[in-house]
Amino acid sequence: MMDRVYIFDTTLRDGEQSPGISLNVRQKLEIAEQLAKLGVDAIEAGFPITSSGDFEAVKAIANRVKGPRIVALARAIEADIDKAWEAIRNAEKPCIHTFIATSDIHMERKLRKTRDEVLKMTEAAVKRAKKYAPDVEFSPEDATRSDFDFLCRVLEIAVGSGATVINIPDTVGYALPDEFGKLIRELKAAVPALNNVILSVHCHNDLGLAVANSLAAVENGANQVECTINGLGERAGNAALEEIVMILDTRYRSLGKKTNIKTEQISRTSRLVSTLTGYQVQFNKAIVGANAFAHSSGIHTDGVLKERITYEIIDPKKIGLTESKIILGKTSGRHALKQHLEDMGYVLDDEEFEKVFVRFKELADKKAEITDDDLGAIMADEVRAITSEVYGFESLRVTSGTDEVPNATVKLTKNGAVIKKTAEGDGPVDAACNAIGKATGVSAKLLFYNVSSITGGLDAQGDVTIQLDIGGKKVLGRGVSTDIIEASARAYLNAINKSLTK
Ligand code: KIV
Ligand code: ZN
Repeated sequence: MMDRVYIFDTTLRDGEQSPGISLNVRQKLEIAEQLAKLGVDAIEAGFPITSSGDFEAVKAIANRVKGPRIVALARAIEADIDKAWEAIRNAEKPCIHTFIATSDIHMERKLRKTRDEVLKMTEAAVKRAKKYAPDVEFSPEDATRSDFDFLCRVLEIAVGSGATVINIPDTVGYALPDEFGKLIRELKAAVPALNNVILSVHCHNDLGLAVANSLAAVENGANQVECTINGLGERAGNAALEEIVMILDTRYRSLGKKTNIKTEQISRTSRLVSTLTGYQVQFNKAIVGANAFAHSSGIHTDGVLKERITYEIIDPKKIGLTESKIILGKTSGRHALKQHLEDMGYVLDDEEFEKVFVRFKELADKKAEITDDDLGAIMADEVRAITSEVYGFESLRVTSGTDEVPNATVKLTKNGAVIKKTAEGDGPVDAACNAIGKATGVSAKLLFYNVSSITGGLDAQGDVTIQLDIGGKKVLGRGVSTDIIEASARAYLNAINKSLTK
């Protein structure tokens, strides 16, 4: 279809390459299932050769998630391609994505290969991948800084060897929209075989142009965009899926291009990715930022109240943004909670449900009205704990005041045994983290700390994101509670647990 743009999501591969993000199998699976509900055409599930954890996650996604193509990344190396296939062989629609750099700077300085060697490696890699998978994607890494004629030769060989998708990456986010659009147009003219495959683009955001460049490519004949939820990805990230999709939707009459995305799932997907990765979305981020639909000036508020379209070009309902409804309270029982969680799309086994129910009751004792957002936060916290728990969080007692040294006692569990430790600190959060450090024997340096509230009101749950340096590696942790000291302790423990399970 001429007017169709395929959406290739790489949140779980390029997105996971963002510093500090480390998702485990269960978390990756949960995101992949949500991406399938969102209606993406392809999920790049990971880079199987890089670690056994990534291999297992890609395999689990390939085995379980139906609908989109499941893609595994591989360098143009036999071992990578074989491992990628091993991971995705049971997928309904498996695809191997192989790549090699084609710019002189990458070939000479990084690969230390000649142009001829790169041409041979391209041919061998695509042919090997094609022996396994009907769908093979090929990317010439750093395409935008590659010699045009050489790039054309590489692409001819890739398509001739069986590639069904050719992806043009702006690996370092260097291109300008006009230049990138022209590159796509000229490649299509110079390599006629590109008209028989899906022509994809993959833009990085180093100059803040990833979305603009992807759009320029679409206007010049690309029919697939690689993007990530919330714009996650290496360095400044990739093109944001929600922005690409909503631009094409909102400006359909000008651009004439459609996607298959169920836009009502956007907000929920963005929140899930943010909670599970620990990467908070900036307040003024287009489409999914907390302020994207907030009107503060008197003139704007007055206009929107009289007629929404005066200042809103997108109906917030279109991205699934509904007011967080009050849904449950102190008197709600197991059945009501279970039913509501199922309506929200969470399916839990009995043991998992019991943990969530305890958290729900604790919260209901402190907070009169519990909303979808509160439940979403508890769920994310529990999924984090269930999936990465070496140490379980039992309880925390803290004393502090203006005239005493803060002191914390933490109770953790490990393999059924209770570990109780006490420590002092500069403040109550510091004392709690020191006590956790003593109990786990893990020492960490705090790099980043942020607390925000999940809903409005003084009884709102605090949502704490923490970044730690543990043995030279950056790890993110997140925790929620109506008590921000407890939320901080949970976030600290979450990061320590992640470092121990990775
Ligand atoms: O940015 C890039 O070039 C990549 C490739 C692997 C497609 O991520
Ligand atoms: Zn990339």
